[in-house]
Amino acid sequence: MTLLAIETSCDETSAAVIRDGAILSNLVSSQIRLHAEYGGVVPELATREHLRNWVPVAHAALDQGGVEAGTLEAVAATRGPGLPNALMIGCRAAQAMAFALDRPFVGVHHHEAHLYSPWISGDPPRAQFESLPPNVSLIVSGGHTILVHVVSELRHRVLGSTLDDAAGECFDKVGKLLGLPYPAGPELDRLGAEGNPRAHEFPRPLLKDPSDDFSFAGLKTSVRYFLEKHPHLAEDPARLRDLCASVQAAIVQTLVGKTMRAAQRIGVGCVTASGGVTSNRALRRELASACAGAGLELRLAEPALCTDNAGMIGILAERKLLRGEGETSVDAEIDPSWALA
Ligand code: KG4
Ligand code: ZN
Repeated sequence: MTLLAIETSCDETSAAVIRDGAILSNLVSSQIRLHAEYGGVVPELATREHLRNWVPVAHAALDQGGVEAGTLEAVAATRGPGLPNALMIGCRAAQAMAFALDRPFVGVHHHEAHLYSPWISGDPPRAQFESLPPNVSLIVSGGHTILVHVVSELRHRVLGSTLDDAAGECFDKVGKLLGLPYPAGPELDRLGAEGNPRAHEFPRPLLKDPSDDFSFAGLKTSVRYFLEKHPHLAEDPARLRDLCASVQAAIVQTLVGKTMRAAQRIGVGCVTASGGVTSNRALRRELASACAGAGLELRLAEPALCTDNAGMIGILAERKLLRGEGETSVDAEIDPSWALA
């Protein structure tokens, strides 16, 4: 099956062509530089950029995939969750294409696409869902931190999620306090790699709590108090690196500790992780060492598939259609606060 997928849930306009489980093209037009000036995503600007970009991005994806629009057998888009007006552009565009081509439309859940993205790998990237064992999966992005028990392909239940800030949000907000450019996650990763993670002790929120929920707002606040007591610390490069490493260690240890505990409690043999924060090198390393120690298999989303992209949306849409699920009405509404079940 050949399909086109569009992703516009936040600040990336992306389009991908999928054929028989492989990603033939996956183009991402990032708006990061535009929003950086404002220190975060400005919804009106995101909307304007998606409107301007979706046609050229979709054209380029079809070109690179060597596919004519008229031969598409389905069209997919992210239907939620995300910024309402941003979602509306990609979703309506895909619905209109499906309507004109008289082909099925699939409205995809953004987090469900992240959830299964660790099972896409190779060159070209290909869905490898046949080998999917029961697993506990950590989805860590800018807006969400979710722990999920995946029972089998497309069968999963949410174990817990963040009660306030997401892990990526914590990286971004702490980075802002330190004067780092938005989004601060990659910069904190870079600086933290050269610092001492034991230089300062920050809270590991809810790490000892028996629930599978997360909370990162308190950690950000404790960094703020710490900086009030040490106002010039960030001006010293060596001390800044130690602070970044220490904050990163608190976030990473909390994520890894809670994921491993859930995996062991449920008794699965595999752990997976996806979403933008999964690009973090300390998180990848700590998950690898914890899983090796516990004898668990680990599947991490490939770095190119960690951040938002239409490839993961299209792969999930195709799997759903092949199972006779997922076809969505061409006039279905977007769902900006669609919760993962
Ligand atoms: O999944 P994503 O691209 O977008 C959302 O759906 O939110 O995730 C973006 C988030 C941002 O908060 C960004 O700072 C964080 O992922 N991020 C990182 C790294 N790369 C991206 N956080 C820590 N270390 C990184 N290397
Ligand atoms: Zn995302």
